[in-house]
Amino acid sequence: MEQQVKEAVAKFEAVVREQLARVDRMKQDKDFLDYDKLDTLIIGICGGDGIGPVITNEAERVLRFLLKEEVEAGKVTFKKIDGLTIENRAAVNKAIPDDVLAELKECHVILKGPTTTPRAGDPWPNIESANVAMRKELDLFANVRPVKVPEEGIDWTFFRENTEGGYAVGSKGVHVTDDLAVDFTVTTTDGTERIARLAYEYAKNNKKNRVSIITKANVIKTTDGKFLKLCQKIGEEYPDITTDDWYIDITTAKLIDKKRRTDFQVFVLPNLYGDIITDEAAEFQGGVGTAGSGNIGKRYAMFEAIHGSAPRMVAEGRDKYADPCSMLRATVMLLSHIGRQKEADLLEQALDICMFKEKKLTITGRDTGCTCNEFGDYVMATVETLVQ
Ligand code: IPM
Ligand code: MG
Repeated sequence: MEQQVKEAVAKFEAVVREQLARVDRMKQDKDFLDYDKLDTLIIGICGGDGIGPVITNEAERVLRFLLKEEVEAGKVTFKKIDGLTIENRAAVNKAIPDDVLAELKECHVILKGPTTTPRAGDPWPNIESANVAMRKELDLFANVRPVKVPEEGIDWTFFRENTEGGYAVGSKGVHVTDDLAVDFTVTTTDGTERIARLAYEYAKNNKKNRVSIITKANVIKTTDGKFLKLCQKIGEEYPDITTDDWYIDITTAKLIDKKRRTDFQVFVLPNLYGDIITDEAAEFQGGVGTAGSGNIGKRYAMFEAIHGSAPRMVAEGRDKYADPCSMLRATVMLLSHIGRQKEADLLEQALDICMFKEKKLTITGRDTGCTCNEFGDYVMATVETLVQ
């Protein structure tokens, strides 16, 4: 047993050293890339697995239409990245194959379809999730997830920390002995301050007057305690914004409390809580199939659906009925992020018409509704009418 303890301590040491090196990199990485200063902005399109290519196609079509003039003027180019499939990842036993990572790094922003995350018992090697790896490799530290249900007064924006918490070394936990397994959760000062600042800046620039910090700091005292304290400290710099803090358990309950939930506006929270609660939140809006998300870093940004690759839909031959709305919402966020607010507003308006107001077609995920492509046509036609 002494030997096993020693091996576990050595693994812990490696984790600590790796995280300290990451802290150093964060300290050097100060400024956001200014897209306006680029001659050509490169947008990567990466279909992913399962229903990914089908839904990404519809989003790409609308994006190309909205940026047509900029592409013609050479200001924007598209780069298709096909290799991020589970088959390719399994073949090289890597979350992201090296050549695919190099291609991703040639882009400034990326529109990415869902990728399959292997788990124990799958036919695939149990490699790290491509999503998680991409967020870390490109240092996409903020996962921004908006959820809106206007008729119920719900207008939430989640700022999920995206590179730390339980995810930082989620695939490097230690089986110390047959009886004991240990995972790690990580909070850093730089990592927390940058997500908190982004959340408060967003609140300030979008006339929101409340930021809610969500943790479980009463139990996870060290890492969540640090996250809470640092977010509160950043909050003090924004006297016009009210800061409150909640524990994650009661927050999940309050989101279904109709009287209370409309008070929430902006949330800032560690990675795992953000993962869980944004699925719950999206459900009020029509499910995860309707929710997009932005993964924002200082050099790169990646936009995606908040859901997975739905292998069950593919196995049952239903992929052509997948809902492209999550990827289309992600496209709205991408356009806004690169400063094309007019085009972002246009697509958002078209989606609101197709999904809520006019609803000429419905997506059910099966042959009782329209196909992904038909819905894409509907959104395209609506965009075209709005442009005229
Ligand atoms: C998400 C997803 C991912 C996550 C999975 C696919 C690894 O659930 O983007 O919320 O856990 O972050
Ligand atoms: Mg999730």
